[in-house]
Amino acid sequence: MSDGATARGSATEREEARKTAEGLEHLSGFGNEHSSEAVPGALPVGRNSPQRAPLGLYAEQLSGSAFTEPRAENRRSWLYRIRPSAAHPSFTRTGNGALRSAPFTQTVPDPNRLRWNPLPDPDEGTDFLAGLWTLGGNGDVAQRSGMAVHLYHANASMRRVFSDADGELLIVPERGGLLLRTEFGMLHVEPGHVALIPRGVRFRVEPLDETARGYVCENYGAAFRLPDLGPIGANGLANARDFRAPVAAYEDVEGPVEVVNKFCGNLWAATYDHSPLDVVAWHGNHVPYAYDLRRFNVMGTISYDHPDPSIFTVLTSPSDTPGLAGVDFVVFAPRWLVGEDTFRPPYFHRNVMSEYMGLIEGAYDAKTAGKGGFVPGGGSLHNMMSAHGPDRETFDRASAAELRPQKIDDGLAFMFETRWPVSLTPQAARAEHLQQGYDDVWRGLERHFRPLH
Ligand SMILES: [Fe+2]
Repeated sequence: MSDGATARGSATEREEARKTAEGLEHLSGFGNEHSSEAVPGALPVGRNSPQRAPLGLYAEQLSGSAFTEPRAENRRSWLYRIRPSAAHPSFTRTGNGALRSAPFTQTVPDPNRLRWNPLPDPDEGTDFLAGLWTLGGNGDVAQRSGMAVHLYHANASMRRVFSDADGELLIVPERGGLLLRTEFGMLHVEPGHVALIPRGVRFRVEPLDETARGYVCENYGAAFRLPDLGPIGANGLANARDFRAPVAAYEDVEGPVEVVNKFCGNLWAATYDHSPLDVVAWHGNHVPYAYDLRRFNVMGTISYDHPDPSIFTVLTSPSDTPGLAGVDFVVFAPRWLVGEDTFRPPYFHRNVMSEYMGLIEGAYDAKTAGKGGFVPGGGSLHNMMSAHGPDRETFDRASAAELRPQKIDDGLAFMFETRWPVSLTPQAARAEHLQQGYDDVWRGLERHFRPLH
């Protein structure tokens, strides 16, 4: 899908993009009513759609929720742009590459515990869109329910512009920084950060390093939001003020620009005669964000027992059942372990939810690190009710460890946890980088039971 004409990636271009990325300003907060203008006076005052918008711009609303959803759920932004989005030619089908969508019906759902190595290196000239590779997911794009797990590997900047009508995209870089040029302005993320691109928002991705690799959760369901904190109180976990929204920045480009739209599982392309990243001012609450996972305020026990991993939820996409998420995004960030008389790594369990885990850097405290194990860029899938937990080595070590306060600071792992089982794409079920013998990590968990009489 990608060739020299649609991708770029020279060292000079990367340097320029990095300079741009590192000089960015941003707005602070999550879910609030932001506003920004790249040119003073571009944002109308006191109304959304004046008879003539300022500076000869077109006013346009982008809805992230139905008009009539309750105020707390309602998401929309007003964009003031050089041309309205409606000014485009017809879209025609283009190749989906390795990108797949729900419903995932091509493989039999697999109850086995599965683990993959990182994606192999991409071919020369692979941009972010061409580098998307779908592992699996659940739900149905046409029902706006469920999610997909994608991985990406890229080594070239996108010339084309992408938008996803099927869901929002939570991008989790594992290798290489990214400059995201969106309709709302630019965002800079590095490994350890995440970017959230709302449904329908157009954007381009420019890698800032020679290779870019990571994970994407495509959330077909209700938009991600911060979880309720309950008795935790008014602060903690991911704090709203640490989210970065872009300031308005626009491209004034006349000339052919390929725009690719993901719609009901397929990619559709059209060649515009201008760049659609032409928004000069905007306001609203349906906006992209970036967040540094190291800012996560980790909560945990200060007495005994390992809390359920829901305590590490960064963002949640609720379903129609309270407390039951379509998908949760959970991070295992650096933290202190101080539990007394406690098996400190994550416990053995069988979960009604299904868990896809990835590793951004270092090691995860329930698994032994190293080649052939759970490695950065790799991932594991523990579908609903599959039994999992620490591997044998971890169990032995943690059962015998002296329980001093211990800092876990050598890894950053995350989880996409979903209420429905994850079905695999054929390419994931048959991937060369699917590890064989993952079950063996739980082999040799010996019998220690000794009845007292
Ligand atoms: Fe688990």
